[in-house]
Amino acid sequence: MLPCTTKIADLTWKPKGVILSGDADPAVFDLGVPILGICYGCQEIAWRANSANVAAGEAREYGHARADLMIQRMSPSRRLRVLTTSTSSSKALVMRCMVRTTLPNILGSFSLTRIQTVYMSHFDKLVKLPEGFTILASTPNSEFAGIAHETKPVFGVQFHPEVEHTPRGVELFKNFAVDICGARQHWVMSDFIQHEIQRIRKLVGPKAQVIGAVSGGVDSTVAARLMTEAIGDRFHAVLVDNGVMRLNECQQVKETLEKHLGINLTVIDGADLFLSRLKGLTEPEAKRKVIGSTFIDLFEEEAIRIEKAAENTPNAGKVEYFLQGTLYPDVIESLSFKGPSATIKTHHNVGGLPARMMNGQGLKLIEPLRELFKDEVREFGRQLGIHEDLVMRHPFPGPGIAIRIIGEVTPERVAIARKADHIFISMIREAGIYNEMSQAYAGLDTNRAVGVMGDARVYGYIIILRAVTTTNFMTAEPYEFKFDLLKKIARRIVNEVDGVARVTYDITSKPPGTIELE
Ligand code: XMP
Repeated sequence: MLPCTTKIADLTWKPKGVILSGDADPAVFDLGVPILGICYGCQEIAWRANSANVAAGEAREYGHARADLMIQRMSPSRRLRVLTTSTSSSKALVMRCMVRTTLPNILGSFSLTRIQTVYMSHFDKLVKLPEGFTILASTPNSEFAGIAHETKPVFGVQFHPEVEHTPRGVELFKNFAVDICGARQHWVMSDFIQHEIQRIRKLVGPKAQVIGAVSGGVDSTVAARLMTEAIGDRFHAVLVDNGVMRLNECQQVKETLEKHLGINLTVIDGADLFLSRLKGLTEPEAKRKVIGSTFIDLFEEEAIRIEKAAENTPNAGKVEYFLQGTLYPDVIESLSFKGPSATIKTHHNVGGLPARMMNGQGLKLIEPLRELFKDEVREFGRQLGIHEDLVMRHPFPGPGIAIRIIGEVTPERVAIARKADHIFISMIREAGIYNEMSQAYAGLDTNRAVGVMGDARVYGYIIILRAVTTTNFMTAEPYEFKFDLLKKIARRIVNEVDGVARVTYDITSKPPGTIELE
């Protein structure tokens, strides 16, 4: 994965193919290797051919679309493609033309079922078919949802094959990488674990110590367990009670990590410090940055303490590294290369880190999971022997409840969100549906609403329930609760959490929403 600012001339190797997710050095097109453009990358291909090929659409298209895949391979030997077109209303097929081509069909098995569900997230679109290209797929809103060059191995899709909401998108990548680029598929998880352990041992050397944040979530636990496997007690896990964790969470996490996973753990009580620094802050990015930098302050103090404690023991090395369970989606969503792509939010474990940590004054980063998606980390965890309950635990963000409380984080508001969250998650567990959703929580709105309890008027807080399904957390759908259960949850929250007048359920998909509220 390379930023769009990469200069092809600077590459020291030649790729077998290129997947474009956006803008790129125009020299990419002179490499002579297969190219697949996705969404903005597809528009880039069309725009480079002629800027009039791309324009703002009349309607935004976010979410599921039905793509009509127009080209089917008639006979592998003759590689004849039949182009058909359909009108979205009648779905009538009209034979349009036949194109003789020597190219393999990127759609491959994907096209055997002609109508496919694909995921769209765009506003601009192709308004003209670039010269020399044919149509691969159409949706009612995008006539050119998939295109292919007639003689060169250049393809573009407006939809997103990389997300789970394009259920067969992986096949399209496989066809491109294996059939068209001639790449081999040889990555397996067990090799990755051994490879990472060796890499960590080599990087850290025989003496240096490593410090790492743990939260009890699957990412930091997997990273900590891996580190323990690689360097034993020279790895020091630190759990910071930041005052915005879930109810009783700190105690539970301590037990699991120390007793069951044999991780060398220290717990720091930072609740008052975090809450005092959050006082008066309402802007989401400001809250995230304060939480990120407070974490680092505490870690740096802890690193000094560990180093002192290790003097004159067999573990007398310096604390040189800082472990983080950063995943690939955190990396993508936090980075903005020289401005062309938007920073969605600063995840505290990536962009929120103060520069001093990165520039050598403090600690160097180790991020063994930064190329993995959540489902891969879970598989990784299983292979490291971590219990299924922990492996399947819903993720919990570093900034905790603070980014689920819209506006100011006060001790009173934290207590309300915690209690409501506890009821919500307990009822989900009791209903036996915890593993059907990927993440669920109760958040708190800034506004208040009027209610009536007994004979009295109340003016109370609004709880926002959120539960989503996803595997990679880049896109997500709201979980479809049985309405009766939602009503029971709402009733219990209003009855049992003082100060709450209303309960709402957030049904926004991601995109355009995000999973957390801030
Ligand atoms: P969003 O809200 O970006 O969340 O759709 C995607 C996933 O990332 C988690 N998340 C975070 N995790 N530090 C973390 O460790 C953060 O700052 C952070 N922000 C979001 C979120 O819980 C979801 O699983």
